[in-house]
Amino acid sequence: MSGSILGRLRELRAADAPTHGGHVLAYVYDSGMPELDELADAAASLARPVNGLDPTVFPSVAAMERDLIGFVRRAVHGRRDVVGSVTSGGTESCLLAVKTARDLWRAEHPDAVARGTRPRLLAPATAHAAFQKAARLFDLDFDPVPCGPDGAVAADDLIVRMAEDAALVVVSAPAYPSGALDPIRAVAAAAKKLGIRCHVDACFGGLVLPWWSDVPEWDFRLPGVTSLSADLHKFGYAPKGVSVLLHRGRRQHRAQFFATTRWPGYPVVNPTLLGSKSASSLAAAWAIVQRLGDEGFAELTASVARVAAGIRDEVERIPGLVVMGDPVGPAITLVADVDVPSEHRVDPHRLADELARRGWRIQHQPGFVQSDGTRIPRSAHLTLTPVLERSVTHFRRALGQAADAVRGRRAADGRLLAGAVRALGYGSDRVPGTAASWRLLRVAGAGQVAPDQPMATLMALIEELPAPVAEALLSELLARMSEPR
Ligand SMILES: Cc1ncc(COP(=O)(O)O)c(C=O)c1O
Repeated sequence: MSGSILGRLRELRAADAPTHGGHVLAYVYDSGMPELDELADAAASLARPVNGLDPTVFPSVAAMERDLIGFVRRAVHGRRDVVGSVTSGGTESCLLAVKTARDLWRAEHPDAVARGTRPRLLAPATAHAAFQKAARLFDLDFDPVPCGPDGAVAADDLIVRMAEDAALVVVSAPAYPSGALDPIRAVAAAAKKLGIRCHVDACFGGLVLPWWSDVPEWDFRLPGVTSLSADLHKFGYAPKGVSVLLHRGRRQHRAQFFATTRWPGYPVVNPTLLGSKSASSLAAAWAIVQRLGDEGFAELTASVARVAAGIRDEVERIPGLVVMGDPVGPAITLVADVDVPSEHRVDPHRLADELARRGWRIQHQPGFVQSDGTRIPRSAHLTLTPVLERSVTHFRRALGQAADAVRGRRAADGRLLAGAVRALGYGSDRVPGTAASWRLLRVAGAGQVAPDQPMATLMALIEELPAPVAEALLSELLARMSEPR
C-alpha cells in the first residue's frame, strides 16, 4: 500500500524539473554534497513531530534558532546588539522587516499619522517583489526607484526621495533580477542621517557574500543598516522553509512580534507570521550549518565564484549576448547586445527556450517599463550553485551552441495578442474574470505549462499587457493547475 503511494509520488516527481545536478539555474540550490542532503533529511525527520509554535514546550527549537541566528549574525558582522528570528523563507523575512518598520514608524510619527500621512516603502525597482506584497498587505505606499538599463540604481536617486514619510528604505545584496549589489553604503548612511530605517535584503546573497572576495561593505558593518534578511533555503542549502531576519537592537526586533492574552485560549506569542509551524527545515538548516561551518561555506562559495568567472568568460566569447551590468555574487543576468545589428543579437528568451530543449533551465525575466517610462530589457537569470562547477564545461558549450542556434532570430512579439486582449475591452481598469482569463490563456496557447515548454511567447505577452491583466491571467493559470479535475 505505502509502496504504491510512494510509487505514485515518484511518478509525479519524475515530471518535475531536476532539483539536483545543476541543470536548473534557478529555484534550487544544490551544494553538490549528497551527504549534506542526507544529514538534512535525518535532522528534518528527527524534528518532524515538533511544533515550532512553542519553544517553552519544545526547547530544541529555541536552541537551534540561537545557533542559526548566531551563525548568520557573525557572518554578516552583527554585534551582540543584533538579534532576530528564524522565519519560513525570504518572503516572510521581507514581510516582517516591513511590518516592523511600519509599526515603529507609526509609533514614532504620531503627528504625521494624525495628518493622515501614509508610510512609504522606498526601494530600487529591482527589489524583490516580496516588498510590493509587504506594502500591499501592510498598507504602505510602494515607491520603486527607476534603475538604469543595466539594472543598477544610483544612490542619489534613492536619497532624494528620503523624507519623513519613508518608513523603510530597502537595498539588496544582490538584487535577484540583475545580480547587482545596490549602493548600500551611501544609502544606509543617508538613511541614518535622516532617521530612516534601512533593510538589506540579502535573502539571495546573505550566505555567499560573507565569503566572496572584494565585496564593498554591505552588512551590519554599516551603521545605517537596521535590519537584514538571509535565506538558509537558498545558499544555506537547506530544504525550503527557512530564513533568518536580523534586527539592530532588541526594541526593533520585539516590534516584529504579535502577542495576545486577549482570548480564552493559551497565551499567543508569535515572533513570525505563522502560528503552529514545522521545525523540520529549521533542524535541517541547523544541521547543515553545524556541518559546514565557516570553512565549508567558504569552500562552497569559492566554487560558485569560479563558476561565475567561467560563465562570464564564456558570455564574452558569444557574439550578440552580454551580461547585464556588473553582478556581484551568485547571479548572472543575460541580455541581448544592443550594440550589434539585430541580425547578430541573441534574444535571451529564445536562448532560454533553446537551452531548455537541450536540458538546461535558465529563467526568463520579461522586459519591464519603470515608473519614469524607461525600460529594463528582457533578460534571463542564472543562479549559480556549487554543483554546477562539475558540469560547467558542458553548460558553457550548451550556452554557446544555443546562442548560435537562435542568433538573429526575431524576439517573440506579444503585440498582436495584447492588441486582441485590448480590443475585447480589457485593460488596467477592466480586468478579465476567471472564465475570460482562462479563455485568453488558451487562445494564447498558455493553458498548460510544462517545465520544458517554450516560454518566450507568454513572456512577450506579459511585456505587452497592462500589468493588472497579465497578473489576472497568471493567477488564473496557477489556480487552474491546482483545481481538482
Ligand atoms: C533578493 C531576494 N529577496 C527575497 C526573495 C524571496 O524569497 P523566497 O522565495 O524564499 O520567499 C528572493 C527570492 O529569490 C530574493 O532573491
